[in-house]
Amino acid sequence: MIKKTFLLLLIFLLFVSFIFSSEESIEEKVERLLSQMTLEEKVGQMTQVDSSYLYNPEDVKRYFIGSVLSGGNSGPSNPTPANWVEYVNRFQYYALQTRLRIPILYGIDAVHGNAKVYSAVVFPHNIGLGCTRNEKLVEDCARITAIETSAIGIRWSFAPCVAVVQDVRWGRTYESFSENPDVVALLGSAVVRGFQGGSLSNKDSILACPKHFVGDGGTKFGTSINGLLDQGDTRISEKELRNIHLKPYIFAIKNSAKSIMVSFSSWNGIKMHANKYLLTDVLKKELGFDGFLVSDWKAIEQLPGNYEDQVAMSINAGIDMIMVPDNYVRFINTLISCVQKGRVPISRIDDAVRRILKVKFLLGLFENPYANKDLINKIGSKEHREVARRAVRESVVVLQNKNKILPLSKNLKHICVVGPKANDIGSQCGGWTISWQGQKGNITVGTTILEAIKKSVSNNTKVTFSPYGDNIPKDAEVIVAVVGEKPYAESMGDTFKPEIEYSDHLILQNIFKEKKPIVMILLVGRPVDIENYLSKTFGVICAWLPGTEGEGITDILFGDFNPKGRLSFTWYTVDRNKATFPYGYGLSY
Ligand code: GLC
Repeated sequence: MIKKTFLLLLIFLLFVSFIFSSEESIEEKVERLLSQMTLEEKVGQMTQVDSSYLYNPEDVKRYFIGSVLSGGNSGPSNPTPANWVEYVNRFQYYALQTRLRIPILYGIDAVHGNAKVYSAVVFPHNIGLGCTRNEKLVEDCARITAIETSAIGIRWSFAPCVAVVQDVRWGRTYESFSENPDVVALLGSAVVRGFQGGSLSNKDSILACPKHFVGDGGTKFGTSINGLLDQGDTRISEKELRNIHLKPYIFAIKNSAKSIMVSFSSWNGIKMHANKYLLTDVLKKELGFDGFLVSDWKAIEQLPGNYEDQVAMSINAGIDMIMVPDNYVRFINTLISCVQKGRVPISRIDDAVRRILKVKFLLGLFENPYANKDLINKIGSKEHREVARRAVRESVVVLQNKNKILPLSKNLKHICVVGPKANDIGSQCGGWTISWQGQKGNITVGTTILEAIKKSVSNNTKVTFSPYGDNIPKDAEVIVAVVGEKPYAESMGDTFKPEIEYSDHLILQNIFKEKKPIVMILLVGRPVDIENYLSKTFGVICAWLPGTEGEGITDILFGDFNPKGRLSFTWYTVDRNKATFPYGYGLSY
């Protein structure tokens, strides 16, 4: 009799727990999971490892790793969509072999499309999108990026960069929408909405990660530790910090951003990765940020003291996940030791793990940990490229139009195209494309400017290509010269004097001798010194770093679209004491 009663009671309790578990709130699920976790499992969740250092993917299981990233140069050697799916799923497989089966959250720098994936659509970098001032268009671009990122099993992009860049000599200027915080706030939150979709749990939604908190774009020239401005010191009052650099985060949080990346830079001499006032008191308490904070690449090792000091300082300041990204065993052992010695309270660990687990539940990762197979065919699709083409033509800024040379006729007898960049997808895309620094050449699928020109003109128009501007055909009626900067990223782009590549400068000198009308198209990541070219060219079109859809530029060149791009940065002269073109400048036909 007792046995029967006990059995009935057990069945009843199971039934009740089933009912409650399916109606459990996310908070309750988090608490239930957290209560079962060991200290090792908790610290594992706070550990983010770059895939290139996981020589043995089984370490994801052995050390309960909570997050994997593929930073600038990490990923499958042949980065096709199918290879990425297999690459990402392998790490997830081992995460799901752990005792509690907590899935990893995988992150990537999908900062202008999921551009590390061969054949993905590559959108204009943020400096170009900033010139559109079009938040709906920017949201559409982000929505497509989310689809093309989640398609390979990755549900987190380290974007949008909401730096409010104040000095264009910084190599990351092109990652910024504008020098104007209102434009950055508007478009940064559009990206958050586009990434996260109607609900984070949708299979084609990804977690946004506004970065780099806070003041990364305001560093003082010459204070950089590895360049001129990059990772330097932002020396301004708190009022200025709040009015210029904090505003985009307030908007992003209002748009439900659930992760934020901390900046390498310092504020008035204090490294952001150790700034408890800004990370915890301002961001988490005053602004109510309830997602999690992730450090930048190896950034805690720039803090004062030994490694244990650096771990304790950064976690206690409020960072919840550490992008180690290499020696994860050392990090895990050090943080466990900090807790055991009382240098980091377990309450701080639990707070960090709660924040991370909550986001994983919000993303639906426990139910759908793997790539969503029916999305993979959308990568690089025609309709995605059409949206990118629209973004290109709305980002282009016409800076000069002497003799109303623009728009060009599609029925010209002979157009001579000059400059290697005219036929170079890599130069069109810039950094963070296939690789960290990006590179020249035919690196992914897209339409070059030369190809776009050939597609646009009539059958009676001859288009010739003279990469180096020598042997210009006598009967060429107009020269279209494509010049600009070589691809770069981060401090590799720091410079005393933003200008086009010297090889392109020499090409211009060649064609200036021709005494023919010239239209100059700029592929640049920021305003560069063009003072000496303006008098020698008729048309000047700034295309920024437009990405794969070169036809967006010819839509402007041949007048299929009336240009409406307006500068989101002041175009200073070299000595920066006056503007060649003011903020907001741009010509229409
Ligand atoms: C880099 C960048 C950051 C990027 C991260 C991961 O150093 O500062 O923007 O998201 O590492 O690649």
